[in-house]
Amino acid sequence: MNKAIDPQLMQAAEQSAHHLVAPSQPGADMAAFWMPFTASRQFKKAPRLLQRAQGMHYWDVDGRQVLDAVSGLWCVNAGHARPRIVQAIAHQAAQMDFCPPFQMAHPQAFELASRVAALAPEGMGKVFFTNSGSESVETALKMALAYHRARGEGTRTRLIGRERGYHGVNFGGISVGGMVGNRKTFGPLLVGVDHIRHTHDLARNAFSVGQPVHGAELADDLERLVALHDASTIAAVIVEPIAGSTGVLIPPQGYLQRLRDICDRHGILLIFDEVITGFGRTGTPFAALTYGVTPDLMTCAKGLTNGSVPMGAVIARDHIHDTFMTGPEHLIEFAHGYTYSAHPLACAAALATLDTYEEEGLLTRAAELQDYLAQGVHSLKGEPHVIDIRNTGLVAGIELAGVPGEPTKRAFNIFLDCFEKGVMVRTTGDIVALSPPLIVQREQIDHIVETLRSAIRRAA
Ligand SMILES: Cc1ncc(COP(=O)(O)O)c(C=O)c1O
Repeated sequence: MNKAIDPQLMQAAEQSAHHLVAPSQPGADMAAFWMPFTASRQFKKAPRLLQRAQGMHYWDVDGRQVLDAVSGLWCVNAGHARPRIVQAIAHQAAQMDFCPPFQMAHPQAFELASRVAALAPEGMGKVFFTNSGSESVETALKMALAYHRARGEGTRTRLIGRERGYHGVNFGGISVGGMVGNRKTFGPLLVGVDHIRHTHDLARNAFSVGQPVHGAELADDLERLVALHDASTIAAVIVEPIAGSTGVLIPPQGYLQRLRDICDRHGILLIFDEVITGFGRTGTPFAALTYGVTPDLMTCAKGLTNGSVPMGAVIARDHIHDTFMTGPEHLIEFAHGYTYSAHPLACAAALATLDTYEEEGLLTRAAELQDYLAQGVHSLKGEPHVIDIRNTGLVAGIELAGVPGEPTKRAFNIFLDCFEKGVMVRTTGDIVALSPPLIVQREQIDHIVETLRSAIRRAA
């Protein structure tokens, strides 16, 4: 494999790494862009336009520096514009821009699959590439259905999600997801879906450091659904090990193992959605390893390419994949895939990302910093309206009492205030979420916490 890099490409990559890109036109017409998950009328009145990024920081179009406390959107785990990744993408774009992924392939796809499998729990050795977390979820759900059918249990068609779950925005994902705002508008969704209870329990677990003590028994809710529907109709259960998008809900001690045990008892596949927890967020490569519970299928995306090129993946236990490998060899075994599955640019970006994580020890850095982050965020206890603080690895959630009659407003104002003061946090409902890049320094954690403290006080 020719890995030599053309000097012109090097220069282009260096330039983008050093941000010599021309600024975009200020005042460009904003009418045409229909923005995703954005309060767009508010945004277009007071836009927050970012123009470049490096390491822990963004700069907006006015040149103002903003500390990134959320890894872009839970994805830029190694920090922004890492030269190795930039160069790998530039090189690959010139070497081979596209390779058809159906009945054809390129070597880096195999190399990347092996590298990803090597990071996954023992026995999860098969990797299917997608382009996003949402596509990974759809792929995992379809794999579960097809797996049961392939082994002669085609009655197992029911999918179980969890209240307050987020599994992306496609129809399968919102069906098993448990966020009412993402579901209520879109009709009846998939049939044959049910949900277990969420694990959020302020009464018993508020201000827990790390895993809450109470709530393992909430996994038994799955037994209730087995009793209701019968195990022979249930294909899979999907949960996020840590529910991120509904406000950083850390699994109670023993909860995930109990889910695993119930699934084993009833022949139900367990799917972990590791789209945000994958690639180092909890102090190991995957939350499955952190919590010592191995699922049957695992979704990931985001940190796989450090957010640089869209890519996701489903990691499967070997025997699930092998179940498909029957019938005549000229026939396609799994009728599923995307035009951009294992896209060469994404593979190049992911390989360079994994090199960066490895060289810099980033996949375990959250374990080193988690006590420091915990100390910082838990010092916010007692600030106005703070009703809970949760943390693990390099992720934290600070829950606020909402303004009566105006849910989400208090947290949104805090988000705007922090951005104004040069720190980008994220909010969901009335919860502030922090998930800084894994290269974050202790002083930067201090700065994030103190900026947040001031904003919380001002929002009182
Ligand atoms: C747990 C989980 N699953 C799926 C998704 C969807 O990923 P994407 O936005 O890449 O489709 C997300 C996104 O935040 C997520 O947090």
